[in-house]
Amino acid sequence: MLANDLEKRISFKRSISNGDLVIVYEKHDSMKAVTVSEGSVLQNRFGVFKHSDWIGNPFGSKVFSNKGGFVYLLAPTPELWTLVLSHRTQILYIADISFVIMYLEIVPGCLVLESGTGSGSLTTSLARAVAPTGHVYTFDFHDQRAGSARDDFERTGLSSLISVGVRDIQGEGFPDEFTGLADSVFLDLPQPWLAIPSVAKMLKQDGTLCSFSPCIEQVQRSCETLQTCFTDIRTFEVLLRTYEVREEKMGTFHGDGNDSNVSLPCKRRQCSDGSYVVSTTISSVMARPCGEARGHTGYLTFARLK
Ligand SMILES: C[S@@+](CC[C@H](N)C(=O)[O-])C[C@H]1O[C@@H](n2cnc3c(N)ncnc32)[C@H](O)[C@@H]1O
Repeated sequence: MLANDLEKRISFKRSISNGDLVIVYEKHDSMKAVTVSEGSVLQNRFGVFKHSDWIGNPFGSKVFSNKGGFVYLLAPTPELWTLVLSHRTQILYIADISFVIMYLEIVPGCLVLESGTGSGSLTTSLARAVAPTGHVYTFDFHDQRAGSARDDFERTGLSSLISVGVRDIQGEGFPDEFTGLADSVFLDLPQPWLAIPSVAKMLKQDGTLCSFSPCIEQVQRSCETLQTCFTDIRTFEVLLRTYEVREEKMGTFHGDGNDSNVSLPCKRRQCSDGSYVVSTTISSVMARPCGEARGHTGYLTFARLK
């Protein structure tokens, strides 16, 4: 995904090799991550795809099945990974993730602390933001979850940018070795206010914190705790509206067939009484908000160390 070595660096112009992770794209809501393995096949409703046919093609290629069906092979960016990863927890999605990275001012070289790791959705984007010289230290108290996240970061080529620790951050805080070193800290914990005193210790002067909470009561409690050591405390809710834009047959014009103004392509039909009806169908590009738009995910509270 974002390996550190120059050869593999995010120039997705490179071609697909045996062992690469690719995102098999059918359509925007139907994708899956596949590790290319010569000799293996992918079977779906479009037929059977041989991995060996994929090797040597550039990322973004359209590849065909034995039945002539096709899929696209996309590079596994953090944006796509967030859509295909296996959900072991609730995760952060692109709208919140992009806002977090921007507002926390995360740039290459930053040292970022995170808890909990969960499914590693945010961690993956944090890693790309700090690459190639920064590092993300992420902690979860759930041993198995931390292990699965580690496996995922290995698979996506990010393990050199991320360290996963098993630790109860609400109970013990972040490890002392990071005292005064963190540029930013991100919390996605059920009781974030318990970790805030430790966050204040970990941050560099002027460092930034973000806490994600689904409920406003959690936000209120966190903000109360933040007053002591933090300034510029602000809470946001990011609501994303997706639009469907596509060509549609818009309407039909009916006339008696004698209207000389009708210059559009039309169909003329004779009625039983001998008169004529002309109908015209107009195609137009329609735009409307998607019905299934995602609503509330959570509140993002940001603060800066005083
Ligand atoms: C909602 S998930 C985080 C999802 C993550 N932000 C993502 O985008 O994939 C919350 C995680 O916090 C962890 N957690 C809960 N309490 C914790 C604690 N006291 N210390 C460390 N991790 C904790 C849980 O095990 C869970 O994996």
